[in-house]
Amino acid sequence: MPRYLVTSALPYANGPIHFGHVAGAYLPADVYVRYLRARGEEVLYVCGTDEHGVAITLKAEQEGVSYAEYVARWHREIKAYFDRFGIGFDIFTGTSRCPYHAAASQRFFEVLRQRGYVNERVEEQWYSEAQQRFLPDRYLQGTCPNCGYEQARGDECPRCGAWIDTRKLGNPVSLVDGSRPVLRPTRHWYLDLPGLLQAGLLDWYDGRDPAHPHRPWKANVVGQVRSMLADLRERPITRDLPWGIPVPLPGADGKVLYVWFDAPIGYLSATMEWCAAQGEPEQWRRWWQDPETRLVHFMGKDNIAFHVLVFPAMLLGQGDAWEGKSFILPWAVPADEFYNLQGRKFSTSGGWYLDTERFFARFHRDAARFYLLWSGPENADTEFTWEGFQSVTNSLLADKLGNFASRVLKFCERRYANRVPAAGGSLDRHPLLEAADRSWHELGGHLDRHEFVAACKALIGGCDALNQFFDALAPWKLAKSSAPAERARCGDALERCLAYLELLSRRFAPFCPGAAATLRGMLGAAAVAPALSWGPEAPGHPPARMPAGAALGAAGVLFQKIPDEVVQEEKERLRQTAAAVGA
Ligand code: MF3
Ligand code: ZN
Repeated sequence: MPRYLVTSALPYANGPIHFGHVAGAYLPADVYVRYLRARGEEVLYVCGTDEHGVAITLKAEQEGVSYAEYVARWHREIKAYFDRFGIGFDIFTGTSRCPYHAAASQRFFEVLRQRGYVNERVEEQWYSEAQQRFLPDRYLQGTCPNCGYEQARGDECPRCGAWIDTRKLGNPVSLVDGSRPVLRPTRHWYLDLPGLLQAGLLDWYDGRDPAHPHRPWKANVVGQVRSMLADLRERPITRDLPWGIPVPLPGADGKVLYVWFDAPIGYLSATMEWCAAQGEPEQWRRWWQDPETRLVHFMGKDNIAFHVLVFPAMLLGQGDAWEGKSFILPWAVPADEFYNLQGRKFSTSGGWYLDTERFFARFHRDAARFYLLWSGPENADTEFTWEGFQSVTNSLLADKLGNFASRVLKFCERRYANRVPAAGGSLDRHPLLEAADRSWHELGGHLDRHEFVAACKALIGGCDALNQFFDALAPWKLAKSSAPAERARCGDALERCLAYLELLSRRFAPFCPGAAATLRGMLGAAAVAPALSWGPEAPGHPPARMPAGAALGAAGVLFQKIPDEVVQEEKERLRQTAAAVGA
């Protein structure tokens, strides 16, 4: 039996996240995990904040707070943000707070070095005599060697866009204290990616490694990785910085592992932390060293190279150095494109964002989840629009899904004393019900293949068929008929509607867990199957008969419609917050 280890990219503890991150790397993973659980699979979903790196040290220093305090604040904020969307991580830790992280990262480095995949070099770098430390690229400002712009950043020029070799920056000054640095030689370590490519990475990537199978790569993965393979070079994996995982070598004081080296090891150390919390500290080996585990990395497109080249290279390069066992490699990398807001990039500082406090006070979390999935950036950049959110909420969630529930439940309340009618099964093979079976059967396949947009469509497709079934049977007429056969048919129809509603409450749960639970409450004693279960329903396998006479709950509204005025108001507000900061 395979088991699934699911990850979402560790967000930097360095600023707010927004709906775009959620739509790309977190919500799809959460839905996938809930779906797998419903199917009875063994799943672990790990994440946490990425808490090292120059972007973080620089900001903390500019704000005058300690690194640990700075990342702790963002860790809390980011965790709270995910909670609002109901992202159900099994563990959400962080690379500076996880007690297993430093040792695991150092061991990775050490093993790679001993196995000959790490090269040591001495190169010149800018050094601040005033502060007695090396200044990484982003700490510096100076003249662009390409266009002459005088306020270029140490790593790239905002005017001409050139990537800058920091050593060529003219007249550099430190952004921390304005002092002028000097060039000094310093020792660093480089990961031998070309060597690892030959040692097995390329075979794995190309699908020639039977021990480490993977799913067909998404188009965006192939698009990026193919060109990188042609020009793969060694990469520096250490930095001169006062914050990070120390390089575990004598004489390497003041040197730490590069953030992109330690961050993906965060998936492993988070697993170790979770296993230890379960009282089974050695169980992480099952997750990371047993070939039955399917490792699935969700992320945005800017993280592809690290998850398809660098991290697998690091895993592969461990060989059997960890107690004789090798690591698994990624099984699927469902990388997403970018998600924008109403025609522009999300920008919290530019006032172009959705205030979550306000948003969740006014709108249903599950409507937001469903809309983000429906409009998700799965194969191309997509966007959140207020009109789109309104239309999905009103015409799909309220008019199709909610409507089917309320028609059925209200009918049973009026005609069957709010109980499940007795049924003879005359409609079990009705073509419209089989159409619903087919849609929902496809739903599972889409989720297996990480096709969340298509999965949303299949879910709604089933609701369409069910509304048509209700219309076609016209139970309001059958119920009033004087012919007993017609009235029996009415009972058969409503029993089937309830059975499919119960099924809907489970199918729908990975997408909209809260609304699905509400729906199950409305079904009362008719919600017979375990809430978290899937089942083999397909044409020819209709859902089981409902218990005749079981008491239903109170019918209610699943999704409120969003009026036009509210959409206008929200769009206006977005314009104003952007205008207020002059964006
Ligand atoms: N912090 C990175 C980003 O936000 C992602 C790190 S993913 C990991 O782009 F694999 F390194 F953890
Ligand atoms: Zn320039």
